[in-house]
Amino acid sequence: MSIQVQDLSKQYGVQYALDQVSFTVEKGQIVGLLGPNGAGKTTTMKIISGYMSTFGGEAHVNGMDVRSDPIELKKQIGYLPEHNPLYLDMYIREYLTFIARIYRLEAVNSKVDHIIERTGLTREQHKKIGSLSKGYRQRVGLAQAMIHDPSVLILDEPTSGLDPNQLVEIRQLIRDIATEKTIIFSSHIMQEVQALCERVLILNQGQLVADERTEVLERVLHKQRKIVVELTQSFEGNWSIEGIQEVLSLGHHRYGLVFGKTNIDPRLAIFDFVTRQGHKLLELREEKSSIEDVFQKLTT
Ligand SMILES: Nc1ncnc2c1ncn2[C@@H]1O[C@H](COP(=O)(O)OP(=O)(O)O)[C@@H](O)[C@H]1O
Ligand SMILES: [Mg+2]
Repeated sequence: MSIQVQDLSKQYGVQYALDQVSFTVEKGQIVGLLGPNGAGKTTTMKIISGYMSTFGGEAHVNGMDVRSDPIELKKQIGYLPEHNPLYLDMYIREYLTFIARIYRLEAVNSKVDHIIERTGLTREQHKKIGSLSKGYRQRVGLAQAMIHDPSVLILDEPTSGLDPNQLVEIRQLIRDIATEKTIIFSSHIMQEVQALCERVLILNQGQLVADERTEVLERVLHKQRKIVVELTQSFEGNWSIEGIQEVLSLGHHRYGLVFGKTNIDPRLAIFDFVTRQGHKLLELREEKSSIEDVFQKLTT
């Protein structure tokens, strides 16, 4: 077992940032920590990486109590904090050399060479960090987290604020790294976690509300389709459309039509149906499943 937390709790004043959270992560797994802002993701990660020592419960990494030997712990963990704080006035190579020295690594130059190559920074290595795009800054953040070749990586929202191209690149980089390390990364983007992880932990208001394999979650997400329609006036009749499971009245002549997932797109049938009933459509759109839907489905 790489990471083991038991009844993790953290209180700020009267508010619980974490409330009795327990989970384990096996060696080599990549796990997504999902949850809305304020759910407790960062707090969990700070505790596991040894940056927060006052908390309730137990946390072990590679069998080591995170409170017992913070220096040894940090040798085994790489941590990319939220918002990725970097020294903007330093040059990439200079910064990574500095980090390597903090870790008291041997053969600093070759370690720095290696990590620069691994994170795709070869062409930028002589640039100032402050001059880099957000995507390249994330690469530098990942490089500093991995320079000492830790077995466990804790990445706090590594893709937040990236543009679509950078997002793809950083995800690919994480996917590459994942072949050799245990990774926990946090995100509030459902699809991203689906794309990268075999397992998903969902935090909500400090509590772990789901611990599922990604495929289970996908089934939950894809079992239904919801189409929202708006008419010019309300429709009192029976929505007899093939495959319809539920009709939600959303007010102002709007309805949420829930269908079981099939290969048939229900939108055409909805359009035909509404027209046949002598009604007029103002809007017809598919509502994508959101993280809240998954929360609800998994917790009720
Ligand atoms: N230093 C702090 N002082 C007071 N409250 C805090 C502090 N850090 C976090 N919190 C609160 O704890 C809760 C969890 O925060 P956090 O772990 O940062 O969540 P997340 O990373 O999921 O957005 C939030 O309600 C946040 O406001
Ligand atoms: Mg956070």
